[in-house]
Amino acid sequence: MQLEDLKPDVTGILTNEDVSITERLNQICHFLKDNVDHYDWVGFYFKNGDKDELKLRTYAGLETDHVIIPFGKGICGQVAVSNENFVVPDVKAQDNYIACSINVKSEIVVPLFKNGENIGQIDIDSDTIDPFKKEDERFLEFVNQEVSKIL
Ligand code: SME
Repeated sequence: MQLEDLKPDVTGILTNEDVSITERLNQICHFLKDNVDHYDWVGFYFKNGDKDELKLRTYAGLETDHVIIPFGKGICGQVAVSNENFVVPDVKAQDNYIACSINVKSEIVVPLFKNGENIGQIDIDSDTIDPFKKEDERFLEFVNQEVSKIL
């Protein structure tokens, strides 16, 4: 399965006005987890009101304790302040990392912008070492751009 081939379905899910925006985001999490072998946990975090912290809005995969993540903490909290994609080929090599499950080997976090402002992010964990390529970054940037249009 090529990531490129998933784009029409991503757009279709996100533009379905019959369901709430949170439900559409939830469907995206499940769609990506179910259709990309190396995506084992997929979630969307957003800035929590005017606080300098992220709040988990929806996800697919194992339940996590990390519903709230302060800016600067972990991979997610670092992306909240850097505004840059963060690809972690091997989580064991990271000092500032918040472990969610012992199965997780790698992670990618891509920020989500609305009108140029970093308002959240898509976070993906993988049970495989070093699976995330440039194609994943470009694809997840596309997903976030499509999400941004409906927010
Ligand atoms: N590993 C993340 C925390 C979120 S979980 O992956 C769901 C981090 O270091 O920010």
